[in-house]
Amino acid sequence: MIDNKKYFIKTQGCQMNVYDSDKISDLLVHHYSMTRTEDPDDADILILNTCSIREKAQEKVFSELGRWKKIKQARPGTLIAVGGCVASQEGRALKQRATFVDIIFGPQTLHRLPKMIDESISKNTKPIDISFPLIEKFDFLPRSTSSDVSAYVSIMEGCSKYCTFCVVPYTRGEEVSRPLDEILFEVSNLASNGVREIILLGQNVNAYKGIRNRDKRSINFSELIRYISKIDGIDRIRHTTSHPIDFTDELIEEYNNSKLCSNLHLPVQSGSDLILSKMKRKHTALEYKNMIKKVRNVRPDISITSDFIIGYPGESNECFEETLDLIEQIGFDDGYSFIYSKRPGTPASSEPDNISMSEKKKRLSLVQDLIRANSEKYLSKLVGTSQEVLIEGTSKTDPMKLFGRTFTNKIVNFSGSTDLIGQIIDVKIIGSNRNSLDGAL
Ligand code: SAH
Ligand code: F3S
Repeated sequence: MIDNKKYFIKTQGCQMNVYDSDKISDLLVHHYSMTRTEDPDDADILILNTCSIREKAQEKVFSELGRWKKIKQARPGTLIAVGGCVASQEGRALKQRATFVDIIFGPQTLHRLPKMIDESISKNTKPIDISFPLIEKFDFLPRSTSSDVSAYVSIMEGCSKYCTFCVVPYTRGEEVSRPLDEILFEVSNLASNGVREIILLGQNVNAYKGIRNRDKRSINFSELIRYISKIDGIDRIRHTTSHPIDFTDELIEEYNNSKLCSNLHLPVQSGSDLILSKMKRKHTALEYKNMIKKVRNVRPDISITSDFIIGYPGESNECFEETLDLIEQIGFDDGYSFIYSKRPGTPASSEPDNISMSEKKKRLSLVQDLIRANSEKYLSKLVGTSQEVLIEGTSKTDPMKLFGRTFTNKIVNFSGSTDLIGQIIDVKIIGSNRNSLDGAL
């Protein structure tokens, strides 16, 4: 049996996967009193939570599994379980390609993992379950025990936008929201464990529409934020990721709520109306600019970040120039940019890819240089100011220091006593780096 044994879990991809991996850990601890190991050679079960958003991400899955195969050859009793979006998309094909994998589960069936582990051990079978049983997942997860300062709370799953390039609607299913009362219960629990910041998670977090128990009324994202901000102990609310078409005026108004943090990740993908329409993003560049203008009216110092896809089929030089123009005009203070990757089963995959890789790489580095310059400018402007920082723990880069985040989600490293962890204090910004700030108390 697997009770009291050790598990190793590796997470690839987005915050949603990070959240799901935490839930998998909770399950293993709760069901089997297992302990986590950071050494795969020392584990009795190896779990890979995979990402399939781009081809490169998917390749990483098979190279990792190649290493794990050797571990299993050396210690045949070791179980290997694969979850996440590659499991969801490849399913049976994955089983054929990697016959040594024991268990395959999807993002919506991770709560069934203990049942699958039991089945695999007692019946010596290789269970696979990548179905989308709506949102039952949350009903079967143990209570969150996070005692961190900041915690993720998933409020909706899946995506119904079907952008032409994206696999998410196929791997995670359509948008389904958790009921309001369930979310409030989870947040209250976290608050009583000492959590002070909640990061609301969803593939399209602002498409939230959850039922309120009392009158079965559907509650939207702005209303949800209002409810959460009334919970004692919660001082900061963040969210990721939003889609522009669900970024309503009501939500913009909500930025008058002093607990809603001043950072917004609002992926635009491209600055060209032609490409935006080919991608089925359902808005224009001008509409996007107007949204940003309105939110900046409410929060002038808000940090705006975005995702960009470079070299989408049909992206001419002019289209690309429009993306550069948009970046200049908005002055994003950070962003992620990716070369378009053809994904099997998506509508864009049948469009002719007419741009050479060298051209794509050239465009990517132009975008990245521009964003980096913006980001450095944004951070250096903060030098000399005082910022309210929620102190999260000891610094990842220097264990002698503490780290926390500004209200605008920028990381600050500074010296101080660990007693301060969990507090919000004023920190003077004395220097800026590529991705972080240096501070002093
Ligand atoms: N709804 C979430 C997840 C989208 S995936 C969100 O908006 O963050 C994250 C980013 O990956 C997207 O915004 C897009 O910029 C990028 N992406 C998605 N599919 C891609 C593809 N086929 N090729 C390149 N980048 C892609
Ligand atoms: Fe993907 Fe578009 Fe949804 S990028 S996650 S289909 S909003």
